[in-house]
Amino acid sequence: MSLFDKFAAARQLKEGLAHVGTDPTEVVFEALNSAAEGVVKGRRTILAGTNNYLGLTFDKDCIAAGVAALESQGTGTTGSRMANGSYAAHGALEAELADFFQCANAMVFSTGYAANLGVLTALLAKGDVVLLDADAHASLYDGCRMSGADIFRFRHNDVKSLERRLERLKDRASRCLIVVEGMYSVLGDCAPLAEFVALKERFGARLLVDEAHSVGVYGEHGRGVAEALGVLDKVDFIVGTFSKSLGAMGGFCASRHDVLGLFRYVSRPFMFTASPSPAVMATTREALNQLRTRPQLRETLWVNANRLYNGLQKLGFELGPEISPVVAVRCKDRETALAQWNQLLEAGIYVNMMLPPATPAGASFLRCSISAAHTPEQITTIIQKFKEL
Ligand SMILES: Cc1ncc(COP(=O)(O)O)c(C=O)c1O
Repeated sequence: MSLFDKFAAARQLKEGLAHVGTDPTEVVFEALNSAAEGVVKGRRTILAGTNNYLGLTFDKDCIAAGVAALESQGTGTTGSRMANGSYAAHGALEAELADFFQCANAMVFSTGYAANLGVLTALLAKGDVVLLDADAHASLYDGCRMSGADIFRFRHNDVKSLERRLERLKDRASRCLIVVEGMYSVLGDCAPLAEFVALKERFGARLLVDEAHSVGVYGEHGRGVAEALGVLDKVDFIVGTFSKSLGAMGGFCASRHDVLGLFRYVSRPFMFTASPSPAVMATTREALNQLRTRPQLRETLWVNANRLYNGLQKLGFELGPEISPVVAVRCKDRETALAQWNQLLEAGIYVNMMLPPATPAGASFLRCSISAAHTPEQITTIIQKFKEL
């Protein structure tokens, strides 16, 4: 036995990915022409798998804000906020996020992944209980596991299944955190948050919602699925990322509970990593400003999402259960998915290859994520290329 033996499965996986053409894990964007188009293998390629929902990565004001911060404050913070101090922009962004989510407290992390680890490990300890949606993102699962709390999964988006789990907890329900997402990233379906809020109130539990894919996408003001379903003020902890609709990097938690302010003293993924750089803070702040002041971005996003979903549905593809900016096409099997993914790439369309075990029900999907930056012609081309599969 050697330390390296455990990589046999990864080696086999890697070899299996490359045998039909390009390995989806090794795609290189040789150039970026816009938020919606890049160059892959020397070919102009429509980017339909970026999570760049509002297309802000190429927004000129976001870029200008980042450049100004680079020039005035340098390339990095070179340390953590606990040990090396905060920059004014960290606190300013936290105040803006608290205001945006209409709650008293917010906290910034270096990535969305770190936000989930940081919040869950601060909030939960041995003896506490987590009820986790079965399709929750790996970062939520990892954070729960690292916390030492007892983890029980309930069926994805299933109110009855959650209710049964809560009933079984009896007195322990008051030490329970329910962990779900707003919009789920693989199929683009949304959690029934109003029902989940009613349950957590009935049993005296708390609720954390990861709105990584829903901020900037759902809700009258783009605050996410909790806003869209009218329960924003009832959710205990909202977590999210700056790496999707805000087009930058970093993560956050917003909460109406002032205990969030104490997470800074106990959350290791906050304390023992460098704080986000000045340029990242500046582009994120400007992107949040754009999200707030340009609702037309969200409107265009939804027009595009509807066009793609309806177009692919008409062609007979099996799609996720609801229209959203994530349009997942279910494939017959893994081999078909890999072959079709390659065919799309050769035709100048980049989508995400989603294979088990990272997928619901062990199925394989070609996942498209649509942006406000896509033109109607680009959406038509994507549909046409799917038709040719
Ligand atoms: C639901 C969810 N939470 C958290 C994350 C992590 O965010 P980040 O990429 O900013 O680390 C992701 C990223 O894909 C996600 O989909």
